[in-house]
Amino acid sequence: MDVTIKKELDTKQELLALGLFEDEKNMYKDENPELNDELKEAIQKRYFKHGFGEIYITKMHNSAYKKIIVVSLGKKKDFTNEKLRRTMSIIIKLMKNNKYDGFTSNILVLAKKAGLKDIDIGRSAAEGLFLSNYDFSKYVSEEKRKHLAKKAVLLWNKEDTLLKKGIKTGIIIGDATNLAKDLVNESPSIADSDYLVKTAKGIGVQNKKVKIKVLGEKEMKKLGMNALLTVNKGSSNPPKLIIIEYKNGKGPFTAILGKGITFDTGGINIKPTGYIEDMKMDMGGAAAVLGTMKAIAEMNVKKNVLGVIPICENMINGSATRPGDIVTAYNGKTIEVKNTDAEGRLILADALAYTEDKYKPKTMIDLATLTGSVIIGLGYYVSGMVTNNDELGRKLEESGNASYDRVWKLPFFEEYQDDMDGDITDLKNLSGKADPRAGGAITAAVFLSKFVEKSSWAHIDIAGTAYLKEPRTYHQKYATGAGVRILTYYLLK
Ligand code: BES
Ligand code: MN
Ligand code: ZN
Repeated sequence: MDVTIKKELDTKQELLALGLFEDEKNMYKDENPELNDELKEAIQKRYFKHGFGEIYITKMHNSAYKKIIVVSLGKKKDFTNEKLRRTMSIIIKLMKNNKYDGFTSNILVLAKKAGLKDIDIGRSAAEGLFLSNYDFSKYVSEEKRKHLAKKAVLLWNKEDTLLKKGIKTGIIIGDATNLAKDLVNESPSIADSDYLVKTAKGIGVQNKKVKIKVLGEKEMKKLGMNALLTVNKGSSNPPKLIIIEYKNGKGPFTAILGKGITFDTGGINIKPTGYIEDMKMDMGGAAAVLGTMKAIAEMNVKKNVLGVIPICENMINGSATRPGDIVTAYNGKTIEVKNTDAEGRLILADALAYTEDKYKPKTMIDLATLTGSVIIGLGYYVSGMVTNNDELGRKLEESGNASYDRVWKLPFFEEYQDDMDGDITDLKNLSGKADPRAGGAITAAVFLSKFVEKSSWAHIDIAGTAYLKEPRTYHQKYATGAGVRILTYYLLK
């Protein structure tokens, strides 16, 4: 989609989308008294109740536009960047349904009036546009494909340097998030470890600051990454560990790690019907890391960032890991695999320990569709976060709130810390408490923490946020690209 800013509304577009604040009377009195009266009447007669997001289709016909809509922006004092994203998604939805190609709108000017910053306006608007103008359509016939918008002409009559910068950033973030969605939505027979390696190699191919290393099974065996390798034993696809080095600053790396289980059957502890169907989404963390690395490379972020992606497929055959199998991880700790469905923590354990040992990062942030528990605890609107460092936690909360790819901190009290201690090994991969489900999102993080020594570390469980069963605001049904925005915002700071 082409996004242009202009000093006037563009009458050549099919749709005109005007904004209206609930608490502003006579917004269009000078520009268009006729519309102003019509809106007043509509509101009075309650044809247009005028809460945030409601659309009024005006009766005005004496114009070149095919349609003119007025979108209620809610109260001016309550307008936010998130409401700007959602407003854009409301317009795009209407564009898709009407099969329009282009629209023009005054929303950015109104966002400025509401007090938002130029750069944020540009970024949020572009994010809203690009995130909502997405359709995973490669497997459906032409007739079934959603029509996508092609052009947005946005009114702006002020200094435009920061706005344009924001738009550019928002487009990059939107595209990177859509890449993550494509990877998660893809058939798991296609999106296997080699496919993710190929995708990683395509990121920043033109960028000299990006270097990609891929460890294969042999190398990982030599390194002693048996926690990771044991997860892949039942699969015919090879395990991989992708390391993307992005060097464009001073000081140590910030490492971001993403769980890449290309399919999670549960292993011998097989998942039942009703729980297994969407398990292609179990590489949502990997997809988020790939998307984030693409975004920061395109934005030329002045930092050193390491993207680490352990990839396995949790399948079942005669060689698959058994419950009760004991493995020694990269850091020398022994683990009893009590449940083959608690596989994400196993591959992340080796990835975290290896990353810290080899690259000595200051900070490590891992993203994973790690537990069903986090969904039971928090639902689908927010990811769960566990951290060993309050300042890092605060920064991630801030980035989460600003991007609306939000996190909620879970407790990491002392009492939890021995929950994953083994009986005949150092650790087991299932909590030792009477009910192993109790505090499952936290105990999973406790397990991971045993593979981090010096770094400040945060774990973000995106099991509830990476994949939706229903569309919501600018999210479509299925993959959301959760994690790309929070990480990118965090790294941009
Ligand atoms: N990939 C799943 C977690 C998951 C569940 C993601 C639902 C998205 C939706 C993970 O590997 C898993 O199976 N976790 C188990 C752990 C348990 C066996 C300790 C869980 O949460 O049930
Ligand atoms: Mn599992
Ligand atoms: Zn899993």
